Amino acid sequence: MSGMFIVVEGIDGAGKSTLCQNLRSFFESEGLPVVCTEEPTHDEIGMFIRRGEAGPVSPTAESLLFAADRAVHTEKIREWTSSGKVVICDRYYASTLAYQAVPLGGPAPDRDWLEAVNGPIVTEPDITFLLDADPQESMLRVGRRGGRSKFEDEEYLGKVRENYLRIAHERGFIVLDGNSPPSEVTSEAKRAIERKKVV
Ligand code: TYD
Repeated sequence: MSGMFIVVEGIDGAGKSTLCQNLRSFFESEGLPVVCTEEPTHDEIGMFIRRGEAGPVSPTAESLLFAADRAVHTEKIREWTSSGKVVICDRYYASTLAYQAVPLGGPAPDRDWLEAVNGPIVTEPDITFLLDADPQESMLRVGRRGGRSKFEDEEYLGKVRENYLRIAHERGFIVLDGNSPPSEVTSEAKRAIERKKVV
């Protein structure tokens, strides 16, 4: 049996990890084998990114680092889905299209280029959720968590959010209201999964 590949996207503090955990419980209660994963990964390239080991590189160089991590990750995702697992992934290629397309510490790479780099290395998810949240509210959540990354800035995240909404519209992502209570967001996501007959 072939599995399925579900992606959860959204700005920092939108509630992605809670939704991923709730979806994991849902699939497990259906008796399905689940793998929860995320980008940047916790593998060699992902940890290189997370530790900031490349230093203050340009958004273009950064995009290539995220893409390299994704290329390795995608091979694993393919293995998991082909062995029948449900893969729930916190961030995938839309994160690069949304974040790296906004200038931060250097000019932003061209959107067509970002798509050209990512296109050949990704596998298309069965369903992608965009957890759409107000950057001000998200930043409050991030603040409570502590240890801010350079991406966690309200004005920057406002532009990332606009990119996400445009990409979601173009690619048919399912947009969920990240400002609603987590239980409602999860129910909405489950209904969308059932409508798509992924389960
Ligand atoms: P995040 O999901 O916040 O990681 P965690 O919650 O596990 O610490 O991801 C870290 C940051 O990386 C986040 O601010 C978004 C950014 N990011 C990009 O800018 N582009 C990408 O392609 C990816 C995958 C992440």
